[in-house]
Amino acid sequence: MRVKQIVTANVQEMSQRGAAIVAAQLTLKSHSVLGLATGSTPLGMYAELVSRNKAGEISFADARTINLDEYCDISADNKNSYRYYMNSNFFDKIDIRKENTYLPDGMASDKQAECARYSELVDALGGIDLQVLGIGMNGHIGFNEPAAHFVMDTNCVTLTESTRNVNAQYFDGGLDEMPRYAITMGLRQIMQAKRILLLAGANKKGILEEALNGPVTPQVPASILQLHKRLTVIISES
Ligand code: F6R
Repeated sequence: MRVKQIVTANVQEMSQRGAAIVAAQLTLKSHSVLGLATGSTPLGMYAELVSRNKAGEISFADARTINLDEYCDISADNKNSYRYYMNSNFFDKIDIRKENTYLPDGMASDKQAECARYSELVDALGGIDLQVLGIGMNGHIGFNEPAAHFVMDTNCVTLTESTRNVNAQYFDGGLDEMPRYAITMGLRQIMQAKRILLLAGANKKGILEEALNGPVTPQVPASILQLHKRLTVIISES
């Protein structure tokens, strides 16, 4: 394993270091395929990338983005959908062409067909150049939850109680409104990314240690990252 670990003093520094890596990726290849995550962790990085884009330092005009996951049966205009999150926190504020931004369609009536379509889409884009990840308190990446085996392809998952409890805070109606299912990119699509950038706040220190230095096990899905050749982890100390 070749993990580059960057420890930052705070979230602002973590966000700036993360944004600098994404910016460098775009400088190397303007038509990069960026794999993106939602959640609270990358918000500061997106804000920093928006500033750099507005300042004319970087352009997303040729970039394509593909997100890790989306809740099932929540429409794109619902403020809790990941499409809404990406548009409002990032895509609407940068010079990317919206048609070059992809998320799973959580409203698809045939979820299995949607999963297959999404896996094929990653391949059709030529794979992911740089995948941004967060990590769940239970060690999930994307919504690949702890399980008896690693799930390799895009799949429709039943969210664990732990994930539902953590994410319910974002829903006005709390746990009652929090979806039970999501579509997530599988571990194959994530692991085939040329580079991976994992961001983790101070609250993830324990699970990150387990994922990077503990046994590789589907009980801690992020532990599969130990097999990735180009993994950068940025962890904030506060
Ligand atoms: C989000 C995603 C999740 C989050 C993880 C951490 O698209 O795939 O794996 O990265 O749940 O979430 P936060 O950053 O909210 O702690």
